[in-house]
Amino acid sequence: MKLCMIGTGYVGLVSGVCFADLGNDVICVDKDHDKITKLKKGIIPIYEPGLEELVKKNYKSKRLSFTSNISEAIKKSNIIFICVGTPTKKNSNAADLSQIFNVANEISKNIKSFKIIINKSTVPVTTGDDVEKIISKKVSKNLFSVVSNPEFLREGEAIRDFIYPDRIVIGTSNKKTNRVLKSLYTPLISKGAKYINTSRRGAELIKYASNAFLATKISFINEIANLCEKTNVNVEHISIGMGLDKRIGGRFLRAGPAYGGSCFPKDTRAIVDTGSKFKTNLSIIKTVIKSNKDRSKLLLNRVKKMLKNKIRNKKICFLGVTFKANTDDMRESSSLTMIPYLAKKNAKVFYYDPSGFKKEFKKFKNVFNASSIKDACKDSDLIIIHTEWNDFKLLNFKNLNKKKNFIIYDMRNILPNEKFKKGKVKYFRIGS
Ligand code: UGA
Repeated sequence: MKLCMIGTGYVGLVSGVCFADLGNDVICVDKDHDKITKLKKGIIPIYEPGLEELVKKNYKSKRLSFTSNISEAIKKSNIIFICVGTPTKKNSNAADLSQIFNVANEISKNIKSFKIIINKSTVPVTTGDDVEKIISKKVSKNLFSVVSNPEFLREGEAIRDFIYPDRIVIGTSNKKTNRVLKSLYTPLISKGAKYINTSRRGAELIKYASNAFLATKISFINEIANLCEKTNVNVEHISIGMGLDKRIGGRFLRAGPAYGGSCFPKDTRAIVDTGSKFKTNLSIIKTVIKSNKDRSKLLLNRVKKMLKNKIRNKKICFLGVTFKANTDDMRESSSLTMIPYLAKKNAKVFYYDPSGFKKEFKKFKNVFNASSIKDACKDSDLIIIHTEWNDFKLLNFKNLNKKKNFIIYDMRNILPNEKFKKGKVKYFRIGS
């Protein structure tokens, strides 16, 4: 099939490349000329394991192409995916849909034959109706069909999530469109993915409800972890004990720092905003947002306690600063709250992240990017394992830090607890 992806960010690029790899002709469009020039040279704008190889392979085989010419791309394609960003609006919790509506306008100027227009961006329920209205101002309704097809890709696992999804959700009441999309996804369905056809609004809401539910699960276990710490219980046993109940499920029950990233924080805020637009109080999600916001403060209080309230001039090392492992993404990472706080209290903060230097900390005179794990840990009073990169799992901290008494705060519970039971190193975890 002939597809185009409008917006070559995370969703558009990963989905476009994977569709090309399944044998479709895919044009990836972006108004950022520099990004397109780089992609043509095989330079990938985001960090995602396995993506570069797949881009190069499919570009070489000519199933994948890149352009900034949106009109040409639309004309040449039967299926158009809208994959632009829907960030939180400034001064409001609502999703900013201006990029979606701009693309809808562009599409409306370029339809000469029947097109399936798929919204893959995360958008509030009823946005598809608005997109349809914009396009129908210029184009007869029998020349296009607007569908919602949310994505459930996780950063760092995106390619595997695309190839082996739990489900494919298609929101359309148009039978012909549904048939075409089912055949587009047949290679994934035949590998076991469940295919669900629902209304367009239903598909839009499935995406938000899923992200809000996963955020709820994480906040739930984080609060249970707080109780575990007070009662000398290991939260990991609780996660296993709860997760084995099939009604609950074990995934997304890992306690840790506040959840972050480009999706959960933004989408929980946006669904609450949609709720109020439709006069519905989503009180559980509101509480989750608050619980997550309080979490960084709570962990910082623990840090203060570990250092006996003496933060000034303490050397604190952060291992990993991104919002999770296997990504270079800093968006809404809890390190963005914790590091500035400690820096303002005059600690010397050294961080090491496998994805490199972070411009977010440049403005702090006492925050330093270490070029190696060893440099970061050397002479630390406190080492905080903030992100669960494999690089940190087998470290011998006593060799890395010659200081006699130092503290490790393992916020991801990745080190074996027993290892520190006898020695001089004080080892703290989450939820035990
Ligand atoms: C999330 C969803 O998992 C995807 O299904 C969805 O497609 C995506 O948002 C999106 O809407 O685009 P992502 O933000 O890449 O994916 O990352 P997750 O792996 O979900 O992690 C989000 C945050 O939750 C991270 O800070 C992570 O450390 C935290 N987390 C996750 C936990 O603290 N505990 C867990 O058990 C799982």
